[in-house]
Amino acid sequence: MHIHRLEKLWLGFGIASLIIFLAIIGTAAISEGIVPPSNRQTIDPAKVAVTPPFDHPGLRPVPGSTNEYTAYVIARYPSFDPHEIDVPAGAKVTFYVTSTDVVHGFFITSTDVNLMVVPGWVSAATHVFRTPGHYLLLCNEYCGVEHHFMYGAVEVR
Ligand code: CUA
Repeated sequence: MHIHRLEKLWLGFGIASLIIFLAIIGTAAISEGIVPPSNRQTIDPAKVAVTPPFDHPGLRPVPGSTNEYTAYVIARYPSFDPHEIDVPAGAKVTFYVTSTDVVHGFFITSTDVNLMVVPGWVSAATHVFRTPGHYLLLCNEYCGVEHHFMYGAVEVR
């Protein structure tokens, strides 16, 4: 098969560009210590159930504050533990979420809380729930055949 000289040159340029870009991304990711988005700390995914504070998942008040809470949530295919989180109206809640198995999503509708939950990492996001109501909590990363059953709720009262 005959390939024109200019075509060979162009193919070579394309392949060389690809190698250079991959090398830049790889070097940057390693040297800058880039981790999955919104991940704050590491955790052993096999020991989540016995690692405080994930051994008692749920909402708890921040000591010394009037309307500030932390919520610890475990994503475990195909559900969230706890399934429902009751939050007082006006509360500022910081969610800490981890997975015991595969990559999940943690998206609370009508808010900007949208986390990728990676086993071995704890993802975090904070939101102030000013408006009372029923906020759906969804897994928005495909995690298996029962992915569409993986949901929960944040009830703001
Ligand atoms: Cu968990 Cu989809």
